[in-house]
Formats: sequence, structure tokens, C-alpha cells
Amino acid sequence: MEELIKRCIEICGGEEFVFSDGDIGSNILLIGEAPGENEIIQKKPFVGKAGKNLDEFIQILGVKRGDVYITNSVKFRPYKISPKTGKRINRSPSILEIRSFRALVQDELALVDPSIIVTLGNTPLKQLLDEKSQIGDIHGKILKVNIGEKEYDLFPLYHPASVIYRRELKQVYIEDLQKLKKYICENGIV
Ligand code: URA
Repeated sequence: MEELIKRCIEICGGEEFVFSDGDIGSNILLIGEAPGENEIIQKKPFVGKAGKNLDEFIQILGVKRGDVYITNSVKFRPYKISPKTGKRINRSPSILEIRSFRALVQDELALVDPSIIVTLGNTPLKQLLDEKSQIGDIHGKILKVNIGEKEYDLFPLYHPASVIYRRELKQVYIEDLQKLKKYICENGIV
């Protein structure tokens, strides 16, 4: 892990970053987009509002946050300057930013070696699967994917934050989570 963090520092080139949180020996790896302002302050992925959304998710799965390994596709905070306030605001990472972390994220997956990877939203799909992937086309089912030298089970979910902006997704999101719960129970992952 130390070696991965050293490489991360190099890629980030002086930008503050958040690497990951949780149990490195976990069977479940959850991967989101990138840290935002709160994550950089607390040096932990998925805190603040995003953390609350994630807690709901974790509760439905019937596991504890500490039992899951939580990471992001990009480790620094992508931001832009708000023309209104002049302050930094979060934005989605660019494809170049996603690519700059690809080898690192692949090595991170190999180190944790989870039984299942749960991706949240589009960014981790672009990082791990295909840069043209769209969550709306492939959510809610197990995909067998080759990443680096290994084959993994990958379960794409909508990003919990997108469910807040698009209320019509809530029901689909809950159904996907229930499918995921069934899968991890039936396959002895939890
Ligand atoms: N916080 C994170 O760490 N990742 C996300 O994708 C969203 C919020």
C-alpha cells in the first residue's frame, strides 16, 4: 500500500489527495468518482453528504462501513472556479485525469483482490471498463471483466448522489441494491 501511495503522490503533483478507506482485506470493493471538498478536509472518501448517501447504501446491503474497502477512480479533487463566488467547486474528472490514475487503480484492485467490485456512477466504469460506458445501459447486473491481469465480478450501480438529483432513479437504485445483496449473500461474500 505504501508503494501505491507514493505513486499517488507523484501523480497528484502537489495537489492534496484522498487514497481510500476501510478494510484492505475486504471481499467488497466500492469505487466512486473522486474526492470533493469535504473528503479533502477530512482525508477520507465519502464523508459529509456523500457519506450519508453511502451509509444508506451500506445499510441496505446489511454490512458495516468498516467491512468494505472504499476508494475512488481519481484521488485528487477535480474543481473549477465558480464565476459567482470565485471559490472552488467540485466537478467530474476529465478523461485525461481518469487515465492518469488507471494503472494505479488497477494495482490497487490487485492488492485488495476483492470478490466483487461495486462501481458507483459513470466515472469508475470509464476507469475500469470502457471510456464510453454508460451506467444507464449496464446497471444492476454482474459483469465478468478483465482488469489488468485478473478477472473480477463487477456490479455497476448508479451513484448514490445522482439518485438525489433524479428522484425517478430511486426505485431502480433500491432494486439494484437488493439484487446485489442477494448476490453477495448467495455467493458467501458476506
Ligand atoms: N465522495 C467521494 O469520495 N467519491 C465520490 O464519488 C463522491 C463523493
